[in-house]
Amino acid sequence: MAEATVKRTGGGRGRFITFEGGEGSGKSTQIKALAQRLEAAKLRTIVTREPGGSPGAEIIRHLVLSGMGKLLGADAETLLFAAARDDHVRNVIEPALNQGIWVLCDRFSDSTRAYQGRLGNVPPEVLNAMERVTIGDLKPDLTIILDVPVEIGLCRAAARRGIGAPDRFEAEDVGFHRDLREAYRQIAADEPQRCVLIDATPDPATVAASVWAVLHDRLLTTPAGNAVNSA
Ligand code: TYD
Repeated sequence: MAEATVKRTGGGRGRFITFEGGEGSGKSTQIKALAQRLEAAKLRTIVTREPGGSPGAEIIRHLVLSGMGKLLGADAETLLFAAARDDHVRNVIEPALNQGIWVLCDRFSDSTRAYQGRLGNVPPEVLNAMERVTIGDLKPDLTIILDVPVEIGLCRAAARRGIGAPDRFEAEDVGFHRDLREAYRQIAADEPQRCVLIDATPDPATVAASVWAVLHDRLLTTPAGNAVNSA
């Protein structure tokens, strides 16, 4: 499990790893920790986020998080997330993967499934159609879903925010965040080959060790148990 056992996997396409979870689940802390570990293992890595991650998508991020999307209604808000994703995938994610770079993305299409689908009642056929346009065949190689009880997550988000105003989704009520947690647990149960649910209640170092163990087993080790070496 130590970094020393990880051999360079350069040469081929990079790996696409997404992080998902409710408010205050600790995604950004964990992504940062994982990026450092991958860099230490000599794997070229970038960290990006949604909504946003490319100049065009960051403009849309500003719009949706300001609450403008909510005024337009769930379908139109979903279109805004899709437009941002389209720009991000074409200009940042795909080019990086094609250069052999590992991409760590804070939220991706599961966020749309959970927030707009389960909570916004946007029908699956609409989401499927948008995914066909925005991401096509691009599926994450691994999705880490950080799971934390709603009360703890909201407390963490409030502490991080300080005196700043909650954004569009942080401002929703506790029932919304409970449903959101269920939506993510369901996604993890439905797609176990891609998704892993990790308990994000412990301290950050403990959660980081769990994330690394999963990543190592799924993406850095061959079925025979050897570290990958595709260089
Ligand atoms: P952000 O400040 O990045 O929050 P977090 O730290 O929780 O990731 O805000 C992004 C918000 O946008 C978050 O509340 C989830 C929401 N969102 C959607 O509703 N649909 C989506 O497709 C994406 C990517 C995000």
